[in-house]
Amino acid sequence: EELLAQNERDSLFIVTEFAQKYYAEQLKSEEGRSIGYSYFKERGYNDATIEKFGLGYSPDSWGMFTKHALKKGFSLPILEKAGLTIIKEGKDPIDRFRGRVVFPINNVAGKPIAFGARILKANPKSPKYLNSPETDIYHKSRIVYGIYTAKNGIRNEDNCYLVEGYTDVVSLNQAGIENVVASSGTSLTKEQIQLIRRFSTNITVLYDGDAAGINASLRGTDIILEEGLNVRVVVFPDGEDPDSFVQSVGSDAFKTYVKEKSKDFIRFKTEISLERVGNDPVAKAGLITELVETITKIPDAIKRAVFYKEVATLLQIDEAVLINEGNKLLRKST
Ligand code: CTP
Ligand code: MN
Ligand code: MN
Ligand code: MN
Ligand code: MN
Repeated sequence: EELLAQNERDSLFIVTEFAQKYYAEQLKSEEGRSIGYSYFKERGYNDATIEKFGLGYSPDSWGMFTKHALKKGFSLPILEKAGLTIIKEGKDPIDRFRGRVVFPINNVAGKPIAFGARILKANPKSPKYLNSPETDIYHKSRIVYGIYTAKNGIRNEDNCYLVEGYTDVVSLNQAGIENVVASSGTSLTKEQIQLIRRFSTNITVLYDGDAAGINASLRGTDIILEEGLNVRVVVFPDGEDPDSFVQSVGSDAFKTYVKEKSKDFIRFKTEISLERVGNDPVAKAGLITELVETITKIPDAIKRAVFYKEVATLLQIDEAVLINEGNKLLRKST
């Protein structure tokens, strides 16, 4: 197979797809069924969902995948370049993913380009998720998880739900919500937003309902505004993420919750910041500067004007003060 590939990138696509099929196949083996498949079942995933996302299981063995791939004619260098095999001097090559459930990461055309692999029992010595390294076909900063299954839904709904994790994407899909992609736990990049913008200019951030999730959405969202998109935010009850929440309340209640609680990002940031600063005037002044900074990220002057007015009302200060500060910042940056 590899011999037919025209170049190295093609070989990487072929070997990654081969690995995806292998892990999916292993989910049906005896070990895979009792460890991996039963794990997915416990998390409430049905067979159609497992199939739709090409979920799999990597056997708990040092080199089973690598040996199999070599036998099928793939070379060690290509297995290593694809991030599937780890080679250390003087040692036998080993499989990167061992004893984990596997979430293939697909490009926008639906081809697998990388994997995220979850540990099954909490183990302080091993990370919860192991991800493929950067390769010639996988640039973490340019892709969002789920874009292939999400793109039609994003276009139709004219809105993209942005979540943190693989399992959030999978569970929402099972609940009939397809317009959802994951940032995979890191802060969003310009390229990722531009990818989403091909399908819609509206994003609704559904981050985990813990301090980390709220802070991540406060920190990471200015960059979405900068790309000219409209941003709304939904906060989940403490300790819940979209996956756990939809699994516990069901699809209809989830949709109602999101509809009722979703809030414009700048309003959200203003309200939450106001709560945090309380009556301290110095802190409030700092907050004003920060909010003005956020508003100046919006490329469209008319939208900026709307937000100056809104934030002025919420903060009970003169709109002209905000506009003046904003214009100073804008002059500085050009
Ligand atoms: N993540 C990662 N490596 C880790 C932890 C997290 O790459 N060690 C990424 C994964 O993409 C994960 C996302 O960050 O899906 C969100 O992390 P978290 O909320 O901790 O995990 P969940 O997706 O909620 O997974 P689970 O429900 O299985 O705990
Ligand atoms: Mn490259
Ligand atoms: Mn989290
Ligand atoms: Mn979770
Ligand atoms: Mn989570």
